[in-house]
Amino acid sequence: MAAVPHESARRARAPLQTVAVIGLGYVGLPLSRAMWAAGHRVIGLDNDPAKVHRLGRGECYLRHLGADFVAEMLASGRFEPTGDAARLAEADAVLICVPTPLDEAGQPDLTYVDATIASVAEALGTRGRSQLIVLESTTYPGTTRQRLKPALDAAGVPYHLAFSPEREDPGRRNIATTAIPKVVGAIDRPSLDAAVALYSTAFERVVPVESADIAEAAKLLENIYRAVNIALVNEMKVVLDRLGIDVWKVIEAASTKPFGFSPFYPGPGLGGHCIPIDPFYLAWRAKQAGVAARFIELAGDVNQSMPRWVVSRTLEALAGADPLKSQASSLKPVARILILGLAYKPDIDDVRESPSFELIHLFREASCAVDYSDPHVPRTHPMRHYGDLGLSSVVLTPQSLSMYDVVVIATAHKAFDWPLIAQHAKLIIDTRNAMKDYPQARVVKA
Ligand SMILES: NC(=O)c1ccc[n+]([C@@H]2O[C@H](COP(=O)([O-])OP(=O)(O)OC[C@H]3O[C@@H](n4cnc5c(N)ncnc54)[C@H](O)[C@@H]3O)[C@@H](O)[C@H]2O)c1
Repeated sequence: MAAVPHESARRARAPLQTVAVIGLGYVGLPLSRAMWAAGHRVIGLDNDPAKVHRLGRGECYLRHLGADFVAEMLASGRFEPTGDAARLAEADAVLICVPTPLDEAGQPDLTYVDATIASVAEALGTRGRSQLIVLESTTYPGTTRQRLKPALDAAGVPYHLAFSPEREDPGRRNIATTAIPKVVGAIDRPSLDAAVALYSTAFERVVPVESADIAEAAKLLENIYRAVNIALVNEMKVVLDRLGIDVWKVIEAASTKPFGFSPFYPGPGLGGHCIPIDPFYLAWRAKQAGVAARFIELAGDVNQSMPRWVVSRTLEALAGADPLKSQASSLKPVARILILGLAYKPDIDDVRESPSFELIHLFREASCAVDYSDPHVPRTHPMRHYGDLGLSSVVLTPQSLSMYDVVVIATAHKAFDWPLIAQHAKLIIDTRNAMKDYPQARVVKA
């Protein structure tokens, strides 16, 4: 490929297009809004009829985005939610934001991407003229070039094809979607130019890279960097706990170094659709290529062991054992436990892969009765691994808090009334350092 164009630093003026976004979830909905805000007409395609129905009524099912998020788009007449894949033929550009989970064997599950690209290829054939197609779903390097391209070639119609990783961080309020630099890699130069031109209309900064493979790998590096560093501080937490040293104070002290150190924070385990999953896309690809991705596997082991460690630490605290000597696994008190936070991170309602579910499972295994409180998750829904727990969020009051032997802070939502919790919980297991300003509470950090 010829030299990569310089990154654009300002939103470009370009012809307004019809842009289809496939998959209207945590990624696709904000992306639709970004394209809509740039003036494009947006066709939002999702194969979940309930979502399409709600969007058609102007409802936003992702509460952190705000009530008017969809209604404003809808009122303009330039946002059309649909379940009809044939409408892709109307689009000048198609942006794909469908899930890329792991299957039961822990391997990449590209069934959603494959199903989508089959629809895109069919619509491209009907359209009969060129279209820009961009995959935004996180995946292993080579997916765009080796998996999507052959499927599109079969349509026998020219197209442009690129990969642009999504860097959305749901719930983060200090940066807008369009202010997050947009990395773009493509299968050839005309595709790169087309993708850069489109994204430059909506994003403040577009960063073209030499190939789709580089863009795919860059996204994985970002997430592996987080997974490995979180594992490192989780391991530090376990080690320092045994030495009687507060890991949070250690991180605070180390963070004063003005270079060479970026703070990461421990927790009860990893959650969400990215960090617990994406690194294994590269580990799988590495294995195929005959190399081992040892950091990824080790980080996975450490992070996955955190819920069990938190539970054993809780049982130790309940039994009043000396943490330096206790044999937690042999202690099985029956206790009433309240988990604070079912969502995997603060101030959103996303419970995918949330370690809180593993905590509930492990506490129940230890004969404890478990409830949860989460202002963003009023009740539990069926989950792939845990079924439906049939629980509803407990409203926090002095009475409800005092009913539990232990309150375990798993996610530090801003909406929690921390002074109330500090005052009325009998014992608090704090995995997020949320109680740092309440020395009067009975707290064990874990
Ligand atoms: N959630 C995040 O914070 C985040 C951040 C960066 C990247 N990503 C990546 O973005 C991708 C999407 O993640 P998400 O969190 O938005 O997922 P999501 O589950 O919230 O949304 C995906 C949507 O795709 C729809 N869908 C599935 N198959 C479809 C099909 N064949 N046709 C039409 N619609 C279909 C689903 O109904 C769902 O609404 C994943 O690859 C993920 O790894 C997610």
